[in-house]
Amino acid sequence: GKDGYRHYMEKELHEHPLVIGQTLQRMVDPASRRVMLPEMPFDLASVPRAVITACGSAFYAGMIGRYWLEDIARLPVDIDVASEMRYRNPPLTAGSLGLLISQSGETADTLAALRSLREKAVHILSVLNVEHSTMARESDVVLGTVAGPEISVASTKAFTAQLTVLACLSIAAARARGTLDEAGEDALVSALLDLPSRAAEVFTQGPAIRRMAQIVVEARDVLYLGRGSMFPVAMEGALKLKEITYIHAEAYAAGEMKHGPISLIDRTVPIVASAPYTPLFDKTLSNLQEAKARGGRLLVFTDTKGADRVSAIAEEMVVLPHVHDFVAPILQTIPVQMLAYEVAVLKGTDVDQPRNLAKSVTVE
Ligand code: F6R
Repeated sequence: GKDGYRHYMEKELHEHPLVIGQTLQRMVDPASRRVMLPEMPFDLASVPRAVITACGSAFYAGMIGRYWLEDIARLPVDIDVASEMRYRNPPLTAGSLGLLISQSGETADTLAALRSLREKAVHILSVLNVEHSTMARESDVVLGTVAGPEISVASTKAFTAQLTVLACLSIAAARARGTLDEAGEDALVSALLDLPSRAAEVFTQGPAIRRMAQIVVEARDVLYLGRGSMFPVAMEGALKLKEITYIHAEAYAAGEMKHGPISLIDRTVPIVASAPYTPLFDKTLSNLQEAKARGGRLLVFTDTKGADRVSAIAEEMVVLPHVHDFVAPILQTIPVQMLAYEVAVLKGTDVDQPRNLAKSVTVE
């Protein structure tokens, strides 16, 4: 049941801290505080490149995974949505790593991409929530997200669980490839282990998120912005808003705004930005100032270190705990999903069963 929540989506949003913790329990050895992945039939040290493919929210998780694998493990990564990957026929060396991400393990596009990668003698590693799924049977290795069943059609907790697994995989790959020393691994693992409690603190921001929702619910179009690993977070926020509120939303890399979409900005198009205090904060903030100067209303997700400067320009802001840059996209995902939920509640849409959508998409 819904355990007293209004919708499964609300219940599942509140499970973020729990599923991040459960997923970490499976991947981090508590005594040594080191990432321990299951035995793999290939060596992460010697894969020449990785190809990430998935659909929808799982694809955005993959985009964040790409930042981590490239940055920490120095592994070259190619990424595309599963419905396009096959048509590109990317040149791949045998022994490369195919990284598939899926909550259900049944998505037809992702499964077809898996099969076409397998034909190229690529190792198949899948990040799956349903461990007895078709994709699980056809993979060389499965890294399980421990999110439990996700009933709401819109994905929530499975997404942060996917990110948690991808973060651990990136750390393991970095160690194997000699690009992360013990102190470096320590810092990243500590940041991960700290996440469940930081995630629990996000719910204290409910009133601020509901104030943002009052503005978004009046809009016909909404622009989501983020830089670096916050760009996929913005994409996730925009997708969730479209799915369950039927309000048109688009996500842009913050720096791309001035190359076109800035012409859309006026008081009727709210701008939702994810801007925690990372090394990209100043640049994101200057993009937001440009938007404000053109009449844009700014609704900004930031953290305790960014709050002072954001409050000078934002109409509404949500302040999260400040965390290590590495895990910031995981934490910042929670409030953007909550915003979509609150807008849907205000609009009175069928939150758990949005029109035209199915939980598992088994046609290509
Ligand atoms: C978004 C959503 C969809 C799925 C996508 C992939 O809220 O639910 O975009 O993320 O259909 O589904 P899985 O992860 O089952 O392959």
